[in-house]
Amino acid sequence: MLKQNIENILNSQIEKEAYSSNLYLSMASWSENKGFEGTAAWLYEHADEERDHMLKFIKYVNDRGGNAIIPEIKMPPSEFNNVKDMFKEVLAHEQYITESINNIVAICMDDKDFTTLNWIQLFVTEQIEEEALVNGIIDKLNLLDGNNMYLFDKDMKAEAAQTDL
Ligand code: FEO
Repeated sequence: MLKQNIENILNSQIEKEAYSSNLYLSMASWSENKGFEGTAAWLYEHADEERDHMLKFIKYVNDRGGNAIIPEIKMPPSEFNNVKDMFKEVLAHEQYITESINNIVAICMDDKDFTTLNWIQLFVTEQIEEEALVNGIIDKLNLLDGNNMYLFDKDMKAEAAQTDL
């Protein structure tokens, strides 16, 4: 059985994962309308992945005897300066999510909820991968320095095709 404070913090993570999914959907939609089809494909897939994260939290809360609450989600931004700035926003958002996951880890340790502490390790690892992935994309954008965005977009299309959700 989950303690109330753990249930609350996991429910708040459900909202954050749902927002992540919608944020990346919004970025995908913007990219699609600007002609960046590969970038859009990558972001649509990433939005699905965030929805999957949200579902994992919902299932975990319910499996442990809590009540997963489906939250209202605030509207994400719909305009972005350019592709590079957009991916900087992705990185900042993922860093915020990492902090949020670390906060759950700290609360689980304080409360000696070793079951949730063990389960949440999946997301500790996931955040290392996500930040590294987005850092790699920003590195590529820095190398291109605004040039040959067609090549970048083709590369993103190839990456999206490889993603196994
Ligand atoms: Fe659900 Fe991108 O972290």
